[in-house]
Amino acid sequence: PRGKVIFSGIQPTGVPHLGNYLGALRQWRKLQDNAKPEDRLLFSVVDLHAITMPQDAKVLRLRRREMLASLLAIGLDPEKGSTIFYQSSVPQHTELMWILSCTASMGYLGRMTQWKSKLQMNNKAGDLEEAAMTNLKLGLFSYPVLQAADILVHRATHVPVGDDQRQHLEFARECATNFNHTFKNILIPPETMTAPFPRVMSLTQPENKMSKSSPNHRSRINITSSPEEIRSRVMVALTDSQNVVTYDPVSRPGVANLLELLSQCTPEDRRLPPRELALEFKGASLKDLKEATAQAICAELAGVRDRHRDLLDRKGGKWLDEIEAEGAEVARRNAEETMRRVREAVGL
Ligand code: ADP
Ligand code: NA
Repeated sequence: PRGKVIFSGIQPTGVPHLGNYLGALRQWRKLQDNAKPEDRLLFSVVDLHAITMPQDAKVLRLRRREMLASLLAIGLDPEKGSTIFYQSSVPQHTELMWILSCTASMGYLGRMTQWKSKLQMNNKAGDLEEAAMTNLKLGLFSYPVLQAADILVHRATHVPVGDDQRQHLEFARECATNFNHTFKNILIPPETMTAPFPRVMSLTQPENKMSKSSPNHRSRINITSSPEEIRSRVMVALTDSQNVVTYDPVSRPGVANLLELLSQCTPEDRRLPPRELALEFKGASLKDLKEATAQAICAELAGVRDRHRDLLDRKGGKWLDEIEAEGAEVARRNAEETMRRVREAVGL
């Protein structure tokens, strides 16, 4: 039987936070652990997407390794069938991007929400459209085509992504269909698998999502945070003056976020939804809830910090590079199979 091919990517933005972990990476590990022998899994650190924004070369190289170490530290494992690689190690991604861009619609790309918000940001000062366009880079406009190529070049059937990426996945399907109509039926329109998980909110501003772009370090927990850090951040998390535990995401977002985190960080066989969990805390204080939440997060992330450090330390990280090189080799072979057929269909 033909198995599933699962592909997903993450930008090399440094060590992931708890939101990235619960919203994306933990699902990847689960897909790996539940995969059938005929399934294939590819996870890419998408460094070419990162350079749509200005990057310092040294920092980018470091962030890439940090992200690779993070993926391995949370349990993605080539021995368990996951192929893990840097996007730029597989030039077939950019080759297919060019070919796709020759049948992709500018109008469709221009309607992408993320592009429109970038355009709006640059237009704030009341600039003419022309001026806004001059400041914006082509790569930022066309990166959904690269994202489509990432997926299609590996003939992915399933793509786990955050809800914010739904539109780009729809565009990837459109790219496949356009190509197939123009040339030959080769590319596979993928299915979206959106994470069932709600957003992890900031610990200091619970009406915003936890994000690496917040300047306040106390607003987030990283997957490599120490148990002491985890505990201190949870204990001072912003809640409110009512010292009881109720689940009310609208008027008590801080408390709701803690309940959500406690629920998600409880092993699945004992997990209760946050609303039911709140009932268990009847008569307890917010401090009790925080203690329990900190403990559950520490348990969920146990070992990740040490594995991450070991991976980065090992002989100057030589071992990490070997894992990446092996992943890239597998990914190149897989992508080349698609590209041979694509080139032939196009006449190249
Ligand atoms: P950030 O918002 O910190 O810049 P990214 O946009 O790089 O994070 O997101 C990487 C992945 O992590 C995406 O799949 C995204 O949906 C998920 N993610 C990011 N922040 C959160 C959050 N606060 N809660 C749940 N998932 C999140
Ligand atoms: Na983001």
